[in-house]
Amino acid sequence: MIKNRILSGVQPTGNLHLGNYLGAIKNFVKLQKDYECYFMLADLHSITVFQDPKQLRENIIETAAVFLACGLDPKKNVIFCQSSVGGHSELAWIFNCVARIGWLNRMTQFKEKAGSNKEKASVGLYSYPTLMAADILLYKATHVPVGEDQKQHLELCRDIAVKFNNDFNCKDFFTLPEPIITKEVARIMSLKDGTKKMSKSDESEASRINLTDTEEDIVQKIKKAKTDNDLIPDTESKLADRPEARNLINIFSILNNNTIEKTLKELNGKNFSELKNKLSEALIKEIIPIGKKIKEFKKDTDAIKKILKSGSEKANIESQKTIKEVHKIVGLSLS
Ligand code: ADP
Ligand code: TRP
Repeated sequence: MIKNRILSGVQPTGNLHLGNYLGAIKNFVKLQKDYECYFMLADLHSITVFQDPKQLRENIIETAAVFLACGLDPKKNVIFCQSSVGGHSELAWIFNCVARIGWLNRMTQFKEKAGSNKEKASVGLYSYPTLMAADILLYKATHVPVGEDQKQHLELCRDIAVKFNNDFNCKDFFTLPEPIITKEVARIMSLKDGTKKMSKSDESEASRINLTDTEEDIVQKIKKAKTDNDLIPDTESKLADRPEARNLINIFSILNNNTIEKTLKELNGKNFSELKNKLSEALIKEIIPIGKKIKEFKKDTDAIKKILKSGSEKANIESQKTIKEVHKIVGLSLS
């Protein structure tokens, strides 16, 4: 029985930002101490929306460099590209035959990403969650650290595991994975609109802090971040209808390892320009060293390729065990 294994992934689509870092990667770095971890570049997920091939290759290297720069240790963890392990697509197909259309129809990410023209969205974008379930169950991961936006996909993954175990009468074959979602960092919001999450795909650069931003970028973006004219209140409940103000205070609290309440106690009555100065300083302290390391790691692409190759070899060996068992259970292997 595998104890406490983690799998998580990030799509290599460029522009990794503060939300990805605080919501996902920083958490991976903490978890690597206590869990056996598989960290994946979800390149197959990224092509559910067209990617320029040259850009995709660059983004794969860039995202791997981000993993390393943030402190993921390739000796302790398996770091690899999803597309280099055939088992992901293979199991995803089998799960396409287990999952129900009704389940996928409920996925909010598809509705958001496909927008008003669903007929024109790729089939891959629709079946995205079955591939994600395959990523997780292929390694029988027990825990999956993600941001809040991925919670529904994780629930679908659990539904697939239960149905598979029932349909094929193999109780407990697939472990039901638990999400790890840290409440405070689950949703870092856009700097321009506190009701929208900070996202790679937002057209406005000013809406996010990128991990490769310069000090000046950070100062400018925080200066221009949307707020309101009221002063900083004394309790969290008074931030309920001030999403932009809440977001800045939340980010500042996370960076200082404080609760929102504690930050409010310290800054209560002050105006937002004061908070913005402190926030810029805190961001510079956290993000600039990461940006420098990303640059360093990117200089040696051969070293990155070597790490990914070694990761994919390990991931292939582990995943083949599940694929063989699944073939037997489903009746696909004749021996
Ligand atoms: P994006 O949503 O920007 O396209 P991804 O989908 O590749 O980025 O997300 C990678 C990881 O980062 C996921 O675990 C996701 O939940 C997390 N994440 C993305 N945006 C945010 C955010 N604004 N706040 C917190 N976590 C986020
Ligand atoms: N769908 C995730 C995202 O966009 C990335 C991802 C792909 C993932 N496969 C995964 C996350 C498996 C956790 C587990 O953020």
